[in-house]
Amino acid sequence: MKNSILLICMITITLLISFLSWHYFGSDAAGILKGKPDAVMNWLPTILRIHIGGGMLAMASGAALKYTSLRSERIAAHRWLGRFYALSILVSGTMGACIAPWSIGGAVTAFGFLSLVGLWWYFTFRSVALAMKGDVVGHRRAASFSLALTYSSLTFRLFLLFPLLTSLPFVPVYQFGSWACWIINLSLVALFLRKKTTTNGATVSVT
Ligand code: HEM
Repeated sequence: MKNSILLICMITITLLISFLSWHYFGSDAAGILKGKPDAVMNWLPTILRIHIGGGMLAMASGAALKYTSLRSERIAAHRWLGRFYALSILVSGTMGACIAPWSIGGAVTAFGFLSLVGLWWYFTFRSVALAMKGDVVGHRRAASFSLALTYSSLTFRLFLLFPLLTSLPFVPVYQFGSWACWIINLSLVALFLRKKTTTNGATVSVT
């Protein structure tokens, strides 16, 4: 039951974020592209679109991975989806790292996003490596952290509601959100896994 609710949430978030991001495929003057220096406008919009496309595929395949992980008869599909998910993250993360230096809010935001990319790759490729070694428990833990980072795109956008709905200034909230989105999501998963470990009475390390 809990797993089904989580899966429905993942599908809803994927559709919502994809819908909200769609306008970047229509115009070079959409959203964050408006404020970028002219010198980068000959390449940055294309890189941003590849980043967004990869992010959408990572979210969609992440939800499909959750679905197939609940059904042992779908293990072959789970393996192929896992490869596709890791590839989407490699592409989207690389493109995200390329555009991070031109983020709104300068160095603070850029380092927030670059840390996110590094952790995104680390947990994703660790989960693949552990699956290949046959360490199912370790694989599940690393995959949970990877998915939490994929879905930090929602947490980040929730922060952006504050300047929209209140008189808080946009740039400091954007800078704060670029760090807080992944710190919050990783902490929530770490807490959840710790609680689960305590409940099951097992002793397994967090990473
Ligand atoms: C989890 C790792 C991610 C990192 C490190 C990352 C990094 C970035 C960076 C550096 C920017 C440019 C920000 C700026 O110029 O101010 C950006 C923008 C954007 N990213 Fe990501 N991103 C990630 C995940 C995703 C995912 C999963 C999606 C889902 C579709 C996504 C969709 C977008 C969109 C739509 C924008 C344009 C700005 C906006 O409308 O908020 N990103 N991202």
